[in-house]
Amino acid sequence: MSTQLRQPAEVLFAAELKALVATDDRPRPAGWALSPQAVCDYLMGGSLADGTEISPKYIGNRRLIETAVATLVTDRALLLLGVPGTAKSWLSEHLAAAIAGDSTRLVQCTAGTDEQQLRYSWNYAVLLAKGPSKDALVPTPLMRGMQDGSIVRLEELTRMGSDVQDTLITILSEKLLPIPELEMAVHAVRGFNVIATANTRDKGVNELSSALKRRFNVVVLPLPATIEEEAAIVTKRVGEIGTALQLPEVPRAEAEIARLVTIFRELREGATADGATKLKSPSGNLSTAEAISVMLGAWSEAGYFGSGAIDAHTLSANMVGAIVKDPMADRVVLDEYLETVVRKRKDWADLYAAVREVM
Ligand SMILES: Nc1ncnc2c1ncn2[C@@H]1O[C@H](COP(=O)(O)OP(=O)(O)OP(=O)(O)O)[C@@H](O)[C@H]1O
Ligand SMILES: [Mg+2]
Repeated sequence: MSTQLRQPAEVLFAAELKALVATDDRPRPAGWALSPQAVCDYLMGGSLADGTEISPKYIGNRRLIETAVATLVTDRALLLLGVPGTAKSWLSEHLAAAIAGDSTRLVQCTAGTDEQQLRYSWNYAVLLAKGPSKDALVPTPLMRGMQDGSIVRLEELTRMGSDVQDTLITILSEKLLPIPELEMAVHAVRGFNVIATANTRDKGVNELSSALKRRFNVVVLPLPATIEEEAAIVTKRVGEIGTALQLPEVPRAEAEIARLVTIFRELREGATADGATKLKSPSGNLSTAEAISVMLGAWSEAGYFGSGAIDAHTLSANMVGAIVKDPMADRVVLDEYLETVVRKRKDWADLYAAVREVM
């Protein structure tokens, strides 16, 4: 097993991608490793003609994925939008892996990102010795992606300043990156496109200018529609991540996952699953991604300190940490939920006691 802590999608799923390339007989857009249909199959899973099983990466509506993939064939870039934890980054990584065979051309956009991190910068030692030359140029992931015709990922696009965002307009509409110092320009090679992600819940974001918005097709990723779907996502991802982290073996914990997902959904939606009781929502974000983190925490704790099985005890300590982000207001919310909902569910007595113990 590799010692690398986290491997990119194209390495982890190299066998699946190879099998898809071998069986894919549909036309491929220039610069693409696979046909758009095969990219969808890679993301949604299924079995191939040669018997290879493709595991599902995205669990949800196939139509969304088709729209996303179809966008990337056009001259418009793709913007994945949604609340935190709706698999925007995850989907972006897998799309890049399937289309370009490389998901590592990545720029993390922050309030401190400047134009140099998007376009290019200079190696000052070489610049001083030789003057402006190609040798002195330090390309960014975006510039490399243009040069080799691959997919470039921009994470959290709306966190960087609007003026910096607008650097992208020329790149996306003219497919051109001017380098005035060298009196040249980098022309994007076929296969180049951009996948950006942005979440709709962050404060202090910078709205895209309408000129830039027009260069993107927006696909909104929803939270899972049902408890069953969300529990299936959590079960699958916890299994994968926990195994990759080599956590001690524990029995499967479907029942605890179902309880956790129910609690998160009820608090998020501000009502019990049956709609009978109205609830207050905590300040933090209780998405599928948080549920995955809580279960992994519970697994680790159960494996090293607990009874060896994920139970109400190991679940509760991790769960309270996820729900109570504001020590005053969220505690009140959780307290009310415990008394009005958890306490009244017959088979949840163990959970009620365990949460009370750590609160
Ligand atoms: N519909 C889904 N299908 C498969 N995995 C999902 C789904 N929803 C969430 N996940 C899982 O949730 C985890 C978090 O997803 P990811 O980091 O991509 O979220 P995000 O939308 O980028 O969040 P943020 O806005 O916080 O960056 C991943 O492990 C991902 O596999
Ligand atoms: Mg993300």
